[in-house]
Amino acid sequence: MVAYRSLAADDPKILEHFLALTPEDRRCRFHGATSDERIAQYCAGMAGREAHLVGCLEGERLVGLIEIALSEENGRRHGEVGMSVAADRRDRGIGHALVAHALDYAANRGLALVFGYLPDNTRIPRIVLDHGGHVDRLAAEAALEAPAPTLFSVSLEALDDAALYSAKLIELWRKALLAPLEATAPAKPDPSPSAAG
Ligand SMILES: CC(C)(COP(=O)(O)OP(=O)(O)OC[C@H]1O[C@@H](n2cnc3c(N)ncnc32)[C@H](O)[C@@H]1OP(=O)(O)O)[C@@H](O)C(=O)NCCC(=O)NCCS
Repeated sequence: MVAYRSLAADDPKILEHFLALTPEDRRCRFHGATSDERIAQYCAGMAGREAHLVGCLEGERLVGLIEIALSEENGRRHGEVGMSVAADRRDRGIGHALVAHALDYAANRGLALVFGYLPDNTRIPRIVLDHGGHVDRLAAEAALEAPAPTLFSVSLEALDDAALYSAKLIELWRKALLAPLEATAPAKPDPSPSAAG
């Protein structure tokens, strides 16, 4: 089952997702050749950046990620977008859905979303145009104006966040309650013939 939710900046799934990207995908995502070490540094610095993260999860696997980094230009704040979808999960609408989640976040804060992309990346302009944005192909920049906040944008963003807190609660539940129970459970008898006799 696929689920979209906010992600904490220190979620180890983010590093796993980035490290699984091919060199070409890394070039598109980070705008240049990016080593494993550089990616690890990028993830380590995430908690210190003012950014919002939304992931697409298939069970425990993070298959898509959008990062909205807050930035300011001429006294106006906007969100700079970086996104990636696992190669084996492309062309199913995950990229479009991630942008829709980012738009809820942006609408609730009055932020425009700006997508810097490499000129040979044809996907990003199409995704932005599909969401009603505009594209400057010469500057390789695409942008989406913030739509007005609505009851839906507020509720949908709250659902993304609620799912993050639920995931944390489940993790805590597993560690704090289930692990001690498993540790104190009586050992099961070994059914192997050598132990039996
Ligand atoms: C750019 C990227 C995130 C797009 O992810 P994606 O999940 O494949 O995107 P989508 O599936 O939403 O859209 C891709 C195509 O699938 C189509 N599609 C298939 N099912 C769809 C659905 N249910 N809803 C919407 N579109 C769908 C889209 O129309 C689109 O076709 P088009 O490119 O011919 O217009 C992905 O290619 C990627 O990770 N690239 C490497 C990193 C990168 O380039 N990052 C961008 C830097 S900011």
